[in-house]
Amino acid sequence: MTAPLKRLYIKTYGCQMNVYDSERMADVLTPLGYGMTDSPVGADLVVLNTCHIREKATEKVYSELGLIKEMKQEKALTGEAMTVVVAGCVAQAEGAEIMRRQPAVDLVVGPQAYHQLPELIARTHRSRGESLAADFAADEKFDALSPDRNPTGVTAFLTVQEGCDKFCTFCVVPYTRGAEWSRPVDTILAEARSLARQGVREVTLLGQNVNAYTGGLANLVRALARIEGLDRIRYMTSHPRDMDEDLIAAHGDIPELMPFLHLPVQSGSDRILKAMNRAHTAESYLKTLERVRAARPDMALSGDFIVGFPGERDSDFEATLDLVRAVGHASAFSFKYSPRPGTPAAALPGQVAEEVKDERLARLNVLLEVQQKAFNAAQVDRTLPVLIEKPGRHPGQLSGRSPYLQAVHCEGPAGLIGQIVPVRITSAARMSLAGTLSPAQAPA
Ligand code: SAH
Ligand code: SF4
Ligand code: F3S
Repeated sequence: MTAPLKRLYIKTYGCQMNVYDSERMADVLTPLGYGMTDSPVGADLVVLNTCHIREKATEKVYSELGLIKEMKQEKALTGEAMTVVVAGCVAQAEGAEIMRRQPAVDLVVGPQAYHQLPELIARTHRSRGESLAADFAADEKFDALSPDRNPTGVTAFLTVQEGCDKFCTFCVVPYTRGAEWSRPVDTILAEARSLARQGVREVTLLGQNVNAYTGGLANLVRALARIEGLDRIRYMTSHPRDMDEDLIAAHGDIPELMPFLHLPVQSGSDRILKAMNRAHTAESYLKTLERVRAARPDMALSGDFIVGFPGERDSDFEATLDLVRAVGHASAFSFKYSPRPGTPAAALPGQVAEEVKDERLARLNVLLEVQQKAFNAAQVDRTLPVLIEKPGRHPGQLSGRSPYLQAVHCEGPAGLIGQIVPVRITSAARMSLAGTLSPAQAPA
């Protein structure tokens, strides 16, 4: 193989969907002679795959662009060009405004136009003019991407659904990712088979509302579970509204479907949930979890929370804490409400003071941390099937995942990477477990 001629640097922000998209962008650029590099210094092509979800996420992009601009100028001194591309949700939301704010940017490309990247980059190279692609046509994107990928490990993301029609009043995703759209089953299966052939044992099905998958997510999971070599299936993120009986039942019937559910609730106060346009109540959410646990008693539960939504009173926040206490989380993400331009909630009265948000977030995090530690501690002395993913940080150490998505470290030979082996858990921390291989797996 000849060395790549041109150096490509991609920086990914935001959710797993962006991680998947970044991989696919690298895939379409490889045939043009681009090879990945892990630093923007001296790169020929720099892609920032951006996130717009909270103000901080967007600001990070502009400060990174400031640094990139200097590197671009540095490179220009040697007579070479650096092409700077802004992709992802900030690209979709802000479009050409990005180039006005940071003229070092050559090209702005929205999430549905990645298949056009080679052409767009070529055009940019010809004339540093016309350089905006941000319309919604998810079907074209997936038609144009090859089913073959170059997975780098034994786990992989696989996008099956994009976009959102829920319009939670705080959220930019319906505006940056467009309408709910599901990828046809055959292209998903083709991609999954290609991944399995290349040694991938676990796929995580991605979608902004993955359980709104047309044709039923449970049916898709069933079809994927039949693929030889694919032993673990996960999915995220789900909306409580789309948690149908079929999918719940699938958790009881399909052994390949892992017992971990990320089901964001956002708040425990019905008044706030209504203002968020979430279409579920605290009670209906807890009922859903009851049904899930009836199908799969050991289900690990995860969620997202927002504190300080406009109008949130102490009593509303207490209701969130009550809900958290009732659930018992294996993991969770919590955020301070961030007003996003153009979303309905940004214009609501009763915006909550920053100090109040800080205090609520801290209290919520203490509770979630206690729950996460308790969930992990409950695994001690159990033997769990662990998918060994990679070498650990120390020599002789391996790192893998339990069915509940916990990181597990143990000593063992590198030959076990890609295998699912029984590990006896000996200790637990907040973020990971440690254990020992069953004697059959450990070297003599
Ligand atoms: N589709 C997913 C979530 C995508 S965004 C879902 O419905 O669950 C991921 C998380 O970011 C959300 O669950 C929410 O908790 C948080 N989030 C979204 N918009 C936000 C905002 N304006 N301020 C703070 N957190 C926000
Ligand atoms: Fe955003 Fe709500 Fe859609 Fe999730 S369901 S992406 S939070 S609008
Ligand atoms: Fe961010 Fe877009 Fe994902 S806003 S969270 S990168 S869908």
